[in-house]
Amino acid sequence: MTENWWKESVVYQIYPRSFCDSNHDGIGDIKGIIDKLDYLRQLGIDVIWLCPVYKSPNCDNGYDISDYQNIMDEFGTMKDFDELLYRAHEKGIKIIMDLVVNHTSDEHAWFIESKKKYKNPYHDFYIWREGKNGKEPTNWESWFSGSAWEYCEDRNMYYLHVFAKKQPDLNWDNPVVREEIYKLMRWWCEKGVDGFRMDVISMISKAEQFEDGNVMEGHTYGDLSPYVIHGPHVHEYLKEMNTEVLSRYDLMTVGETAGVTPEEAINYAGFDRRELNMVFHFEHMDLDFGEKGKWNDKPPKLTRLKEVMSRWQNELYDKAWNSLFWNNHDQPRIVSRFGNDKEYWEKSAKMLATCLHMMQGTPYIYQGEEIGMTNIPFTSIEQYRDIESHNAWRDLVENGDFTPEYMLKCLNFKSRDNARTPMQWDDSNFAGFSDCEPWIQVNSNYQKINAASQVNDPDSIFSYYKKLIQLRKEHKIIVYGKYQLIMEESEAVFAYIRFYKNEKLLVLCNFTDKDVLCQIPNEYDLIEKELLIGNYHDSLQDPWKLRSYEAKVFKYTD
Ligand code: GLC
Ligand code: CA
Repeated sequence: MTENWWKESVVYQIYPRSFCDSNHDGIGDIKGIIDKLDYLRQLGIDVIWLCPVYKSPNCDNGYDISDYQNIMDEFGTMKDFDELLYRAHEKGIKIIMDLVVNHTSDEHAWFIESKKKYKNPYHDFYIWREGKNGKEPTNWESWFSGSAWEYCEDRNMYYLHVFAKKQPDLNWDNPVVREEIYKLMRWWCEKGVDGFRMDVISMISKAEQFEDGNVMEGHTYGDLSPYVIHGPHVHEYLKEMNTEVLSRYDLMTVGETAGVTPEEAINYAGFDRRELNMVFHFEHMDLDFGEKGKWNDKPPKLTRLKEVMSRWQNELYDKAWNSLFWNNHDQPRIVSRFGNDKEYWEKSAKMLATCLHMMQGTPYIYQGEEIGMTNIPFTSIEQYRDIESHNAWRDLVENGDFTPEYMLKCLNFKSRDNARTPMQWDDSNFAGFSDCEPWIQVNSNYQKINAASQVNDPDSIFSYYKKLIQLRKEHKIIVYGKYQLIMEESEAVFAYIRFYKNEKLLVLCNFTDKDVLCQIPNEYDLIEKELLIGNYHDSLQDPWKLRSYEAKVFKYTD
């Protein structure tokens, strides 16, 4: 397999609003990130994925962009950005930008022109349709609840918004739109950025015919996914983007591709495809869906998680590259989701990290994950800031589908705001994130869980992540080895083997608080092994026994 820097890198995702506030307004900003670059260097990451910092009215925290070539006032100036890029590069850290080009803000100059009554060059920049019988063109439900169509009086037409109504979808079938996007991408590349994370890139090409979607039980609206995901021209457009932009620079690219199967992922990111380097799939994140989609309060079975993770490891092997993540700004905290954030907080955070970081693919760490940050148990909808959470509340509670108590439970378990509470830097007021009231409440556990108490403690979660990152740099087998699941049937243990040249790795992870005994193929008992990493001290004593949330990795060399 060809070796590439982006295969060997570990990425750290920053959600700027919640990372570090440098100017006392309770909102994280670019200067705040600059102040923390040494922390990131100490952790050992190679690349920062910077969530959107462009000008935005912030209906969806920057994922609604009104100007792609300027910085959001709250985050600073372009000068600050240039300094961040310069300083990061100086420290050997690359930066990839969040590219949100499926839609813009409704306050973008293109949309302001496009919605005008009289024809102008921007008329076809967005997806406009006539109403049907005085109603929306189709019955589609937006991903953020309610209709995906919004009526515009001036044009007497509806525009499509897969997300919030302030996020109109761009019309990628218009070649002028595509050229404008490539232009702005080249502009960022010329500045020296190192790549792009592409927001909902699997949705840029829409179906040729728009028809009503399937109305699932308990839903008012129809499902739009078949009309907007992996559309007829998506690969053609990405190949064009590759020719026009990506292939001209040394970049790392990762596409957010909701609804992707391994087979389809190979189309987006196959080694011979000339599209993207890798994609994010969400199969493992969708396992705890319930009847009402994501709004649920129950964790999935371990065997299902193992099935999904293993299928991706195996099917992409030698054909395309995996991305590995437990967390991002849209997902609840992993230690609260698949681990135990109470008695076994530290052990389970380390176990989950081991389980993911020993797989093949590029690992992504989301801010705060490296110190074991947890979900936040808000007690009222007013404490939430996220538009998706508020819209869902309106939809499910105000319509009487869920009781407020149950919906709150679901939000506590799944809301995106679990990931968006301020980074916990130390045990001072507001967790050292800011010296004044932040835009969203700090988790009350910051006195126990914070970076300052962990960076110099060799036993901390932070030090454990640091070691995992280091190991990946020292052992090619972690990056390039082939994967094989063992103990398939176990609901307690996630165990797998990696193979590379004359080496093997055996990875054992206990997902429960009970002791378990692993069934390991005989040959692994007989030959000499080395313990690469483990989250208990005396892991070699009884090698096949796992205590509560124990993880250990053995290395074998022929
Ligand atoms: C992606 C982003 C999410 C955003 C949505 C619309 O899923 O990760 O935060 O709300 O796209 O841009
Ligand atoms: Ca600030």
